[in-house]
Amino acid sequence: MSGLSDQFEQYEREALAAIAAAENADALEAVRIEFLGKKKGRLRDLQNLLGQAEPDQRPVVGKQFNTVKTRVATALEQRQQEVNRPRAELTAIDVTLPGQRVELGRRHPITQTIDEFKDIMGRFGFSVVDGPEIEDEQHNFVALNIPSEHPARDPLDNFYLAAAVTSTGGPVLLRSQTSTVQIRVMEQTSPPVRIVSLGRVYRPDTIDATHSCMFHQMEGLLIDRDVTLAQLKTVLSLFAAAYLGHDVKIRFRPSFFPFTEPSVEVDMLWGNDWLEVGGAGMVDPNVLTSVGYAPDEVTGFAFGLGIERFCMKRHEINDIRRFYENDIRFLRQF
Ligand code: PHE
Repeated sequence: MSGLSDQFEQYEREALAAIAAAENADALEAVRIEFLGKKKGRLRDLQNLLGQAEPDQRPVVGKQFNTVKTRVATALEQRQQEVNRPRAELTAIDVTLPGQRVELGRRHPITQTIDEFKDIMGRFGFSVVDGPEIEDEQHNFVALNIPSEHPARDPLDNFYLAAAVTSTGGPVLLRSQTSTVQIRVMEQTSPPVRIVSLGRVYRPDTIDATHSCMFHQMEGLLIDRDVTLAQLKTVLSLFAAAYLGHDVKIRFRPSFFPFTEPSVEVDMLWGNDWLEVGGAGMVDPNVLTSVGYAPDEVTGFAFGLGIERFCMKRHEINDIRRFYENDIRFLRQF
């Protein structure tokens, strides 16, 4: 009956190998059906052979059959427990796995531009001041010589806050320009003044590739005796050259702002394009008077530049919305 015993052995060897090789519950179930299946598994084939054994051999081969069957069933059960065990437990102490990488953050491209602007203007003797983003009409309009019938004061063109008022009950809004800071500084200091202020401004524009309802400006203000438009042009030219690292042409186009007279639009020749970068002009005497300065003693210039413009042009960013989407794949390029 050695033939039968050999078959038992072969069956056991193959069954144990298949069980060990099964990687998951499905594979293991297939193995169970093949080797232990009640209807047509290989165990059943072996059982059918038992009947062919000599009667006196039957107790021996029967016992052998049972032993093999138990061993295979036990191995299968053990393997079932292993494949069902949560993976974390199996890999908990795999010291060969790479560690968790610490990602270093970096400054936002707009913040980098702001810091660079501050640095350049600081070298020209301008100090940096901050102003509030929530403003009253006095600072956003009135003191800037913007009368109540001026279209810039249209409630639909501004973000008025429904849930807040000034200490005297007046309306408040998100500032639409950093020129507000000119007023705040002049109210608190006597001339001469030489400041820049960089920060966010808000306008309910329709958002597209070049417009955002929030963007950044750099405001500049210089007040002294005998300040001229030529000095304004020099400061802006020096600024542009310092930012670009080489000489750059700038040009003034006549314009109008209620708080400057004369007023200009500032363009910079950057590569082959004239880029519109902001507005500027000589501070209007009405503004000087509104903050208690004497227009016959001091004069000054002011400018307001769009910060995104510079950053987009330098890095060839073609959509302003990229700055505010916080897509790490975009931001980590700078
Ligand atoms: N505040 C103006 C604007 O936002 C820009 C400006 C600033 C113009 C200072 C003149 C002087 O469009």
